[in-house]
Amino acid sequence: MEDSTSLTQQIALLQEQVAMLQEKLQKQEKMASLGLLSAGIAHEVQNPLNFVINFSKLSVNLLDDLQDIINENIDKISHDDADDLEDIANDLKENLQKIQEHGNRAISVIHGILLQSRGKQGEFIPTDVKQLVHEYVWLSYHAMRASDKSFNIAIHEDYPESLPRLMVIPQDLSRAVLNIINNACYTVKERARLNEKDYAPAIDVRMTTSETDDPKIVLLQIDMSDNGMGMDEETQGKLFEDFFTTKPIGKGTGLGMGIVKTIVEQHHGGKLLMKSEAHEGTTFSFIIPAKIAR
Ligand SMILES: Nc1ncnc2c1ncn2[C@@H]1O[C@H](COP(=O)(O)OP(=O)(O)O)[C@@H](O)[C@H]1O
Ligand SMILES: [Mg+2]
Repeated sequence: MEDSTSLTQQIALLQEQVAMLQEKLQKQEKMASLGLLSAGIAHEVQNPLNFVINFSKLSVNLLDDLQDIINENIDKISHDDADDLEDIANDLKENLQKIQEHGNRAISVIHGILLQSRGKQGEFIPTDVKQLVHEYVWLSYHAMRASDKSFNIAIHEDYPESLPRLMVIPQDLSRAVLNIINNACYTVKERARLNEKDYAPAIDVRMTTSETDDPKIVLLQIDMSDNGMGMDEETQGKLFEDFFTTKPIGKGTGLGMGIVKTIVEQHHGGKLLMKSEAHEGTTFSFIIPAKIAR
């Protein structure tokens, strides 16, 4: 009697586990097909985009030829017409340059999607994490400044005096830092637009290490704070969802934070923390157990 009840219990338990696994599998399948889908779309879009960019380059050359012919025959055209022709040619050139510039931006977004959906794992290699973080913080800042030279952010960095090389995946870690600082630059710029009195855009980067039980492993913590717009509860709740963005079309993909979480937690076995208050600012922290390189 007792045997049969425990058997039914066991069967019920197993059935529960099967149901749970099925649900998990379904989720993974969804994610995998989403990855395939986006990779497929990215590929399809890449080709026509290449056409757009290449033909606009060709058109710039044709325009140069056209101008040469006009210049050779300048004596046959009236002064006014010659001026008009020059203006039109210059406008056309500027337009073509815009087409190329924005086409290239679209290409780089697509490369990002392809990279992510391929999910290729990088290698752990001895890395000067201090240098890496510093470099990418400034890369992000300069990229932002490239489109607006008049905008300044006070960037404050605080690193440990000496830090041994640590085993991390540098291409991933740099991407994660870039994503966070890109978002930080964007949000302080947004806030600056509100013209609040005495607002000074600022980003703080702080790195610390602490010992663990294992002398070969240190706990690396990287805190990145901004005094931007902060996030309300709703945004905080959706932050890590793929394709969630509050930015206008062309400014955001909504993929950054998901990538950061995967890099910190899955790839590096760490923890990603976030603290944010609307209209105060946001702090992201990477906490990563890292092997000291020998
Ligand atoms: N430092 C930040 N301050 C305020 N909002 C942020 C910050 N970082 C991320 N967010 C919010 O999270 C959203 C998703 O970020 P992300 O995944 O990087 O995508 P994207 O930057 O392409 O919008 C952003 O659109 C923004 O609303
Ligand atoms: Mg982003």
